[in-house]
Amino acid sequence: MEFVAILLGLLLSYALIRATFSLFGVGKQKNLPPGPTPLPIIGNLHLLGQQPHQSLAKLAIIHGPIMLLKLGRITTLVISSAAAAKEVLQKQDLAFSTRYVPDGLHAHNHSQNSVVWIPIGPQWRTLRRILTSNIFSGSCLDANQHLRAQKVQELVAYCRKASEANESVDIGRAAFRTSLNLLSNTIFSKDLTDPYEDSGREFKEVVGNIMMEVGKPNLVDYFPVLKMIDPQGIRRRLMRHVGKVIEIFEELIKERLLMKRSHEADVLDLCLKISEDNPEEFNREVIRSMFLDLFVAGTDTTSSTLEWAMTEVLRNPHTMEKAKLELEQCIGKGKLVEENDLSRLPYLSSIMKETLRIHPPIPFLVPRKVDNELKINGYTIPKGTQVLVNAWAIGRDQSIWEDALEFKPERFMTSDIDVRGQDFELIPFGAGRRICPGLPLATHMIPMMLGSLLNNFDWVLDNGKSGELDMTERFGITIQKAYPLCATPIPLLK
Ligand code: HEM
Repeated sequence: MEFVAILLGLLLSYALIRATFSLFGVGKQKNLPPGPTPLPIIGNLHLLGQQPHQSLAKLAIIHGPIMLLKLGRITTLVISSAAAAKEVLQKQDLAFSTRYVPDGLHAHNHSQNSVVWIPIGPQWRTLRRILTSNIFSGSCLDANQHLRAQKVQELVAYCRKASEANESVDIGRAAFRTSLNLLSNTIFSKDLTDPYEDSGREFKEVVGNIMMEVGKPNLVDYFPVLKMIDPQGIRRRLMRHVGKVIEIFEELIKERLLMKRSHEADVLDLCLKISEDNPEEFNREVIRSMFLDLFVAGTDTTSSTLEWAMTEVLRNPHTMEKAKLELEQCIGKGKLVEENDLSRLPYLSSIMKETLRIHPPIPFLVPRKVDNELKINGYTIPKGTQVLVNAWAIGRDQSIWEDALEFKPERFMTSDIDVRGQDFELIPFGAGRRICPGLPLATHMIPMMLGSLLNNFDWVLDNGKSGELDMTERFGITIQKAYPLCATPIPLLK
């Protein structure tokens, strides 16, 4: 009773102070963007619901594409139109380029060494250069295309095995293992999970745990005063999981240092070489953080896109038919899709773009922050504001896209709109300085996996009814299907 009375007393005093301030116009002098009225203490948190990307898209219809909210103590700007996204990610890119770092990611100093989270500056530039020039450049990707071919072949072999046992395949899980092993082979020249078994291998489990914890809404991110208490235990658990990954990376690094190099140079060799030349800036902690970033940023994003793409193709028999016909005519039924085939498969590429339009894996991009007060379209954005760009809402904007909610890859057959950060109506990889550096890898790997699965199998759903696929989303670090897609593969060629 006493607690409720104190709380009511606090709310009443707060309401009185606010009413007095607004009566005298205090706080009104700045032209802040419109937004829903915040409640005391929680602000607009109650409006987020289970699917914040959907709730904020609905609110933007009422308040506009440049909307200001208060999430707990955190002032948050939500951008929901292509024009406003262009303003933030291109015209004023530098001013919007700092990240808003979730509390859990401070575990083991990760956020201080990570290319994803550190602000733009000399250290970020060095790390970014390593990624774009030494790992994801065209020539580097060409040099290790055999790895991608091998991993796609293993994925198809796994599905063949399932079909022999008349078992269904959990497409998202199978694609996750494929993406994880592709990265582990690119970095360490070895598989870190079993390509043919779904049972846990420690590394896969621990990466999954990190993503689960980071994806949970954390009270500390809305009420920084709770930092010391960590009421949900998210930071404590992340300390444990990140610590485990660090141990695994350290083992692999030590193993390598003892080895006389007998394999082709991989990313670990490259990083150890850069570190020899530049031990201060590119030390062991930074190397480990970079590897963790690659696994966290590059696995779930790729596998969930494949799962959504397969789901949409299975729901739309006409799309399935067209995709299979293109594959048969261009590369021949039963073949794996190789890198060189991609430019001859425009419909397959359109399916990928349409999937990324309607199901962008990271609906708010990675949150940005403004370090200094600035203006956008005449509105004042206060210093320290968190910035969410709702790529999910932009991809479904009815004023841009005809039949916005329908899956129609054909729209990209006659359009130049691409996902590379130049067309702000389609920004699943973000745009500007901080655009996703893994884009070239993902846009090779997704159509190779999808095309190979379609060109080698027919797919039968457990209930046999393709039109009835459940499309419910589950919000987290990436948007997943709430109910995983499971289907049984029937080989096209015996
Ligand atoms: C950043 C999306 C795959 C590594 C980002 C951002 C987005 C994104 C939206 C933030 C961009 C911004 O703030 O403007 C995606 C999608 C993927 C994907 C949709 C697949 C479908 C990958 C892969 C890797 C990767 C395969 C590497 C293995 C990164 C890194 C950053 C990043 C390191 C941080 C860049 C920085 O802050 O400077 N990604 N990503 N991503 N992504 Fe990806």
